[in-house]
Amino acid sequence: MTHHERLLIIDFGSQVTQLIARRLRELNVYCEIHPFNKVTDAFLADFAPKAVILSGGPASVFADGAPMPPTTVFTLGVPVLGICYGQQVMMHCLGGHVERGHGTAEFGRAFVTPTAEKLSILNGWFETDREQVWMSHGDHVSRLAPGFAVYGTSPNAPFAITADVSRNFYAVQFHPEVHHTPNGAKLYENFVRLAGFTGDWTMEAYRDQAIAAIRAQVGDKRVICGLSGGVDSSVTAMLLHEAIGDQLTCVFVDHGLLRQNEAAEVVAMFRDNYNLNLIHADESELFLGKLEGVSDPETKRKIIGGLFIDVFQKYANGIEGAEFLAQGTLYPDVIESVSFSGGPSVTIKSHHNVGGLPEKMGLKLVEPLRELFKDEVRVLGRELGLPASFIGRHPFPGPGLAIRCPGEITREKLEILKKADAVYIDQIRKHGLYDEIWQAFVAILPVRTVGVMGDGRTYDFACALRAVTSVDGMTADYYPFTHDFLGETATRIINEVQGINRVTYDITSKPPGTIEWE
Ligand code: XMP
Repeated sequence: MTHHERLLIIDFGSQVTQLIARRLRELNVYCEIHPFNKVTDAFLADFAPKAVILSGGPASVFADGAPMPPTTVFTLGVPVLGICYGQQVMMHCLGGHVERGHGTAEFGRAFVTPTAEKLSILNGWFETDREQVWMSHGDHVSRLAPGFAVYGTSPNAPFAITADVSRNFYAVQFHPEVHHTPNGAKLYENFVRLAGFTGDWTMEAYRDQAIAAIRAQVGDKRVICGLSGGVDSSVTAMLLHEAIGDQLTCVFVDHGLLRQNEAAEVVAMFRDNYNLNLIHADESELFLGKLEGVSDPETKRKIIGGLFIDVFQKYANGIEGAEFLAQGTLYPDVIESVSFSGGPSVTIKSHHNVGGLPEKMGLKLVEPLRELFKDEVRVLGRELGLPASFIGRHPFPGPGLAIRCPGEITREKLEILKKADAVYIDQIRKHGLYDEIWQAFVAILPVRTVGVMGDGRTYDFACALRAVTSVDGMTADYYPFTHDFLGETATRIINEVQGINRVTYDITSKPPGTIEWE
């Protein structure tokens, strides 16, 4: 569906390949990541990239069956940029030489000094005589391919920056895409400019194209969309609503595990404000009933996941003539990853998802966010008129408050939890901290403790406050609130929420903890 100028990133399995794509998207350049073994000559002809980037990766060009791109990449006549392993591949393919590590491996921060002759892709960077970069390599280039020259060196990488300017081939040993290469984005900016990209990838343009594509796909058929109130499903629903109006029906499954006033707010916003066809499936009795007496975290998750699918299906079956199911799948979910370890990874938590539902129901999928990263979805949401406060909301897990209520879930505990959470979030907003925090919430603990209020003894629940900073939820640090903030918040919760007489602050990072308590 995209008619944009396209850049191809060939992935050799680096942990940070996605960051290259993000840097490019920030420059309004459309790019896709594809694993090296899927990039054939036919693929290249079809994709027609305006430039190619070869990513880093854990392999060695010496290994048997070392990952390589097709050599056609170098005869397309488009600029090519090699990053780390991508540089080694380039040298290897074009007649240079790579050597094994042997004491020259470099991991972490390094300083690169430019040569006297300045390279255009370094414009605006390397204004000083050494610049910080992030290296992560065992092998290194020991002889350049014909036509290449050196434009920057580091103590352990004599070929830190190399190029064959006449063919527009550039290759660096470090990772310009990571945060620890503070000015690395400049290199990508110069590279795409040199490749002639005009910056035609904007969410404003995407919105119109996505609407046209939805109309072409759906025709006059009906579409169902599961709306959770989270950013991805909300933006999906809004986009579909603009595209096909009344042909869309959204189902909002209320499992009774939402935050204070959340269900009412979501319904008011989408049904009353945006005029969406919205079914409010209030099934809280069903969910809470089935969860009664259950305290094992995985059992809770399985119950909620299973019921969710049943309930969704029940309501969807009632929507006459529906042929499509809209889902807020994002680009990171569809990037095929290059796996070198191959082994299955351990399940820490079985995540709530409704995968498999479309086949079961015989529905076709509409996934208008498949090409977007999360930050692009937020920009698109703004384009579609969703309020900034809504788009910037902290993530909320599918199983909701169930996983913030360790042990048995009771209605009493849920009510207490909702109130405490509301006070905590209000405190965070009042102190202007909401946007600095990735996620903040209260967990109600399955213990009662003794306290004293006025002259009386109390015997109430303890709760834990959680607030973390994170980029993607994969790793996280606890947020360093001041003691004043914590003290004030604890006082407010104990005074305002009947049923809690003790407040603790969770200072576990992830790993070893997880963000949620279950
Ligand atoms: P954990 O607790 O695994 O959470 O460190 C990482 C992020 O994922 C969210 N989370 C979920 N989101 N369904 C979701 O949609 C789930 O089942 C689920 N479990 C955890 C969690 O809130 C955090 O942002």
